[in-house]
Amino acid sequence: MIKKCLFPAAGYGTRFLPATKSMPKEMMPVVNKPLIEYGVEEAIQAGLDGMCIVTGRGKHSIMDHFDKNYELEHQINGTNKEELLVDIRDVMDKATFTFIRQREMKGLGHAILTGRELVGDEAFAVVLADDLCVNPDQGVLAQMVALYKQFRCSIVAVQEVPKEETHKYGVISGEMIKDNIYRIDDMVEKPEPADAPSNLAIIGRYILTPDIFDLIEQTEPGKGGEIQITDALLKQAQTGCVLAYKFKGHRFDCGSVEGYIEATNYCYENEYKKNEKAVALNKYSTFKDKNNH
Ligand code: UTP
Repeated sequence: MIKKCLFPAAGYGTRFLPATKSMPKEMMPVVNKPLIEYGVEEAIQAGLDGMCIVTGRGKHSIMDHFDKNYELEHQINGTNKEELLVDIRDVMDKATFTFIRQREMKGLGHAILTGRELVGDEAFAVVLADDLCVNPDQGVLAQMVALYKQFRCSIVAVQEVPKEETHKYGVISGEMIKDNIYRIDDMVEKPEPADAPSNLAIIGRYILTPDIFDLIEQTEPGKGGEIQITDALLKQAQTGCVLAYKFKGHRFDCGSVEGYIEATNYCYENEYKKNEKAVALNKYSTFKDKNNH
């Protein structure tokens, strides 16, 4: 079964400059948790335990985040602030983390190929952490893993987008074979609305079978001079089968300022406020700080 999840996290995050000048986009906090931790939690919920992270220059903080911080732990040991480390400690206990560096930013397809050494010869999931996906009962990746058990082929998550936004996404067309499931027959990277084969856009969740690696290797740079995963997936669709799955849940494009703010508001209302201990702790800290000054 699928056990590994690849996180391409080497991109520059130029849409979020200057915040991303020296800080990885994946480490930007939504409320009090970095984006990549949401992605790892989603993967764990889907039953995956091998997190393979493709990083690049200036991304050390991602590695540090999933490692112990002895000084900090010593400092807060025995205080109620330890409560705030419960989630990340749980994540670290449930998964192993391996890292590889993409030396040149040649696109998402190239980043996935860079992860080949970590993934090996098995089907795997891909999470783009800047797409934050939430669904209360079953995470998006868990939905896709369940689908993979049934169909045993590559699957991409899609959502309907307004026509005028197709130029931001890979867009698919295909025959609907079941509710919310399409067999892909065409895929275009970032088409203008007039050239888009539909309004079903690929978002940052994939399940890929390992033959994708050879297909990426044979893929020439496409749109924007980058090696595009959509070009390799189209070859896979033409020679075998690739499914598109219209998932249940919300997806926030946290690579854009608007999506990031929406995600922050959503997670504050629906996740953070429900964590009574964290809220109480923050109130207490504010009170204490005020009285110390
Ligand atoms: P994006 O298209 O969002 O690019 O990449 P980006 O560089 O992160 O952000 P902008 O557009 O400049 O603001 C989609 C995903 O693919 C990864 C990114 O880290 C992101 O998770 N990626 C992209 C790589 O790992 N390597 C690449 O060469 C390109």
